[in-house]
Amino acid sequence: MTTLIKGGLLLSATGESLAEVLLDGERIVAVLEPGSDLAGAAERGADRVIDASAKYVLPGGVDCHTHLEMPMGDLMTADTFESGTRAAAWGGTTTVIDFATQMAGEHVRESLDARLAEADGQCAIDYAFHMVLGGVNDQSLGEMDKLVDEGITSFKLFMAYPGRLLSDDRQILLAMQQAAGNGAMIMMHAENGIAIDLLAEQAIARGETDPVNHGYVRRAELEAEATHRAIQLARVGAAPLYIVHLSSSHALEQVAWAQNNGANVFAETCPQYLYLNLEDHLGAPGFGGAAYVCSTPLRSKHEHHHADLWQGLRLNQLSVVSTDHCPFCMNEGKDLGVGDFRNIPNGLGGIEHRMDLLYQGVVAGEITLARWVELCSTTPARMFGLYPRKGAIVPGADADVVIYDPAASSTISAETHHMDLDHSAYEGFELQGGVSTVISRGSVVVDNGTWSGTAGHGGYLRRGLSSYLR
Ligand code: URP
Ligand code: ZN
Ligand code: ZN
Repeated sequence: MTTLIKGGLLLSATGESLAEVLLDGERIVAVLEPGSDLAGAAERGADRVIDASAKYVLPGGVDCHTHLEMPMGDLMTADTFESGTRAAAWGGTTTVIDFATQMAGEHVRESLDARLAEADGQCAIDYAFHMVLGGVNDQSLGEMDKLVDEGITSFKLFMAYPGRLLSDDRQILLAMQQAAGNGAMIMMHAENGIAIDLLAEQAIARGETDPVNHGYVRRAELEAEATHRAIQLARVGAAPLYIVHLSSSHALEQVAWAQNNGANVFAETCPQYLYLNLEDHLGAPGFGGAAYVCSTPLRSKHEHHHADLWQGLRLNQLSVVSTDHCPFCMNEGKDLGVGDFRNIPNGLGGIEHRMDLLYQGVVAGEITLARWVELCSTTPARMFGLYPRKGAIVPGADADVVIYDPAASSTISAETHHMDLDHSAYEGFELQGGVSTVISRGSVVVDNGTWSGTAGHGGYLRRGLSSYLR
């Protein structure tokens, strides 16, 4: 089956051009000049022609930080692999990289195999996994090398959550040394969890139990301290480092400093840190702020975090925007933390709205169209060893294509979103632009408000090493 997409403005990480895109089966086979003999021949021979006039044509989004069907205590994140990947596709994301987690005492291989089995046959779009090392030891270090050979080429460590996932400096350095040898990327949740837990304990003892206190105790200084420590350990260990969900000016300053000093350090931020804040959202009246409890936390609107993060995106101090989609419903989820913010499950849902929310940055003049594509698709694919199969419209790449209508508009609401979540962190946000068609490996899955995808269409992706290794 061949498909020609014509009439649109083709966007890439380097610019834009009027071009036609020819798909054959699951692959992109040609990018053609409109009006050329080749384009004419392609149209005559195509089984299907999609008219993208007055629209953008861009590579499908790559969300490299999601938590679908993830257990947390007795709970599970609200989106399954099926519902989460469907919602992602509705928003123009055609690849997700989720996590398999080895908890302390567990065997890496068994944790990964169990996760692969859970996702198998469930996903509507292609997917891959990073491996969380919750227990760095001789065995898990040895497993790292084998996993890299099998296409799991990034490993996430935690400096937060003592007693659950935290790795100490010795474990972090060991994992980094191992990564230096096998080419893996180390991803870091950079917050000083030991200091945070003390501050949280003290807040509860003072009777400060509301959700907003989650933001007060997870201080930006403690994100910056952990970010700095992770950077210095990565320099000593000679491993590449990727800071996840960076939320504050303070931590950004550390990343910029590292980059200016030649360290192979990268960072992502997420839409919540660009649009939401501590006072209005985490500090919503009553228990409403619980919807906004995530770690790292939302930051104060009285500081300069939003503006600094947008600037970091322009300057490439921040090179990726992911969602950290980690949805918990208010009912039978977030409400576990009534009376003690420490018990509110951490995480925000947003897998569906990443491309749209970042596009608002284009509308507002914060970033260019090319940067939008680079942040949401091309760089995450390059960062995590999926490029050029993903993240680019070039011959040979997977036919993951989004047709985006800049003239569309909508309002985000839990009433209409496709995530399996009883609220939206972005309720009432007005969006300019919107997805009209989404093609996943050659199959149209979304077209003008109609879903035609299927669970199981999405395949598991073995990844190569990061394009950003030195
Ligand atoms: O609050 C968050 N981000 N929960 C998900 C787990 C993590 O730290 O990424
Ligand atoms: Zn994290
Ligand atoms: Zn996360």
